[in-house]
Amino acid sequence: MSIPEEFIQDLKNRIDIVSLVGSYVTLKRAGRNMLGLCPFHNEKTPSFVVSKDRNTFHCFGCGVGGDAITFVRRIENLDYVDAIRFLAQREGLEVPESGRNDGLSALRNRIYEANREAARFYHKYLYSPNGSKALAYLRNRGLTEKTIVHFGLGYSPPSRFELVNYLKEKGFSYTELIQANLANESQRGSPYDRFSDRVMFPIMDLRGNVIAFGGRIMSDIKPKYLNTSDTPAFNKSRNLYALQFAKNKTTDGQLILVEGYMDVIALHQAGFENTIATLGTSLTIEQANIIAKYGKEVIICYDADNAGQNASARAIEILRKTGIKIKVLTVPDGKDPDEFIKAHGENGAARFRLLIEKCGNDIEYQIAKLQLQYDLEQTDQKVAFLTETAKIFARLDNAIERDAYVTKLSEELNIDKNAILAQIRQYARQNSENVQKQRERQWKQQSFVGQERVNPEKKHRLRAANAEEALLAILMTHPDAAQSLCQKLPASMFLTSFHRRVYEVICRRAEQGLGTELSDIAGDFSVDEVSVIHQMAFKRPRETDPFRAADEYIRVLEEEGERMTPEQVAQSDMQTLMEQLQKMKEKKK
Ligand code: GTP
Ligand code: MN
Repeated sequence: MSIPEEFIQDLKNRIDIVSLVGSYVTLKRAGRNMLGLCPFHNEKTPSFVVSKDRNTFHCFGCGVGGDAITFVRRIENLDYVDAIRFLAQREGLEVPESGRNDGLSALRNRIYEANREAARFYHKYLYSPNGSKALAYLRNRGLTEKTIVHFGLGYSPPSRFELVNYLKEKGFSYTELIQANLANESQRGSPYDRFSDRVMFPIMDLRGNVIAFGGRIMSDIKPKYLNTSDTPAFNKSRNLYALQFAKNKTTDGQLILVEGYMDVIALHQAGFENTIATLGTSLTIEQANIIAKYGKEVIICYDADNAGQNASARAIEILRKTGIKIKVLTVPDGKDPDEFIKAHGENGAARFRLLIEKCGNDIEYQIAKLQLQYDLEQTDQKVAFLTETAKIFARLDNAIERDAYVTKLSEELNIDKNAILAQIRQYARQNSENVQKQRERQWKQQSFVGQERVNPEKKHRLRAANAEEALLAILMTHPDAAQSLCQKLPASMFLTSFHRRVYEVICRRAEQGLGTELSDIAGDFSVDEVSVIHQMAFKRPRETDPFRAADEYIRVLEEEGERMTPEQVAQSDMQTLMEQLQKMKEKKK
């Protein structure tokens, strides 16, 4: 790790976990602790506790827990070092860099810097005399000065060398520019600007790094949009355009998902700052998970054309996997959101607001779409239509919701409600068992941080593992005990490998006279591992006499260490057999 220990300590001392968590979660006082709805799983009654005394958080619902840095790692989806950077920035501290930076993150940082310089360059160029055509284009599309600046829009020069030369001057190497995908390599091996004569849209991550660009041509030349390909600093399937703005603007947890950059920008300008877009690709499961993390409800608002509607169907399927509430808004008259807003001039925002208010959920949308494909006056088509709708309803687990739709439909089509319900039940039976099982499995895998996954050996060595946990808890909560215990107890005494690893990390720190609390060792573990370690540290009462308690647990481990597991028994039998065979061979020689 490249960040000095003293800096991390200083940073930790400054962070108030209640205010940190409070900036993501509404917290209410509950005794000595603060309580709120867990941001890491869907829940209706609060089971997420933040303890100011211990500087930790814990969810009784899904098992996550840890210190402030772990919270940021989880909620911002950052690695340990980046979480520290994030918090440092929040506290207004400069992170001291020591030389040992690993190769990849060094390269990534160079790409961020090159991109930032490029974004500045394009933006300046837009406002230079050479940029007047592009500036006129943007203004003509209805963008205000404020919007252009807010999104950092720019213009890439028609000549193919200006950016490359500019960045070379700034000290970037050709390799860096090619790796950033700001330049392409010519046949003769020299670099030239990737983007030329295009309106430039910088794409940022949640920390404000410029990670990529989209560039729109101002004529009919293809491709209309040219985007940065994936680079070490950019993965298009894991990022969403404008999420850095939208994540703080979700009204009632609502996010609007559109197809294009211009749709995002037009909607933000019209006051819908909770709008995001995928980056020229269809929605991925990673993006869906991110959306579900920052929103409670998503309104899919794709183009009204065929491609857009097919994309909506796919997006619904993917978003459903995350459990987020889904609505689908179809813009009338085949327009995209940007065109709609523009077409209605001053009333654009109000008209769009109305569309949002009256748009239906995913099921209503799917039924309406189906309805267009059938002539419901004809009996056979009506039956076919009902069969298809039954399949859609069968996917709903909420019986009340299902019943409401069926009632409405049976009235509209003048068909016996029970006949439809029977049809649905048939599909539901086939469906729901699989779906439910799959969902539960996913839920367990994704959300619940169980011992199972983190320490799979525990269930085979329960008594030993419990003693190990108790010992580790003592080491983490009684710093004075750590040093002497670590000298006494070899790591090999720990029988489950996860606990052995925790012990080794604690001892390594104790030997150097460093802290051994949860927050001190958290950086060496994944966030799920931290949750489990957190549970072991705090679910038991503090020992009044830690040394005596420790002796007791050590005795248990000694006993358990002598007891072999069934596999070990089998293995040792094998060993003996092999040894005997070897001896026989040697005798023969
Ligand atoms: P405008 O015509 O400027 O209003 O753009 P739009 O956002 O309405 O464009 P469209 O609906 O055609 O495309 C939606 C999104 O798909 C764009 O914002 C781009 O991200 C992406 N896209 C469109 N055309 C291309 C293309 O030719 N190549 C690539 N890679 N992506 C494209
Ligand atoms: Mn458009």
